[in-house]
Amino acid sequence: MLTLGKFLIGLIGILLVNVINNYASNEQYNAYTTVANLSNETITDSKTTAFQVLDNKCNVCHRKRNKRCVFTANNMDSWADRINTQVFVKKRMPKGKNIKLTSREYKDLQTWISSTKTSTHGI
Ligand code: HEC
Repeated sequence: MLTLGKFLIGLIGILLVNVINNYASNEQYNAYTTVANLSNETITDSKTTAFQVLDNKCNVCHRKRNKRCVFTANNMDSWADRINTQVFVKKRMPKGKNIKLTSREYKDLQTWISSTKTSTHGI
């Protein structure tokens, strides 16, 4: 009888440990998905991504050679139409042979430009 009692207590102990372990790993899983969602949000912020392109590939030159057109997070939306003309229609920018945009960077600019159009025309 005594051994059966010990056996049962042992069994309950094992079950408890399993439940606690499962719970703990669920918590960990939730923490991971929260972090993943947060980083997704930064990736889909098209204006921030576009600004990085403008800052890296355009401002580097404009700061020296076209000072009245240095892009900032505040003024870039008002430049969107002219950027569209220069980069996508006339293909004059980025000027020169040294600075090129990757296809990813073209896409990032395009996504942001079309988002500014949506917001100004309220479509
Ligand atoms: C190597 C230098 C250089 C780089 C790189 C460059 N630009 Fe320019 N950009 C100029 C100069 C110089 C002017 C003024 C003279 C002209 O229009 O050619 C100018 C003018 C402009 C204008 C104004 C044109 C107008 O009159 O409306 C826009 C818009 C522009 N650039 C956008 C960009 C964008 C967007 C990029 C990056 C994708 C870029 N530029 C990269 C040198 C550069």
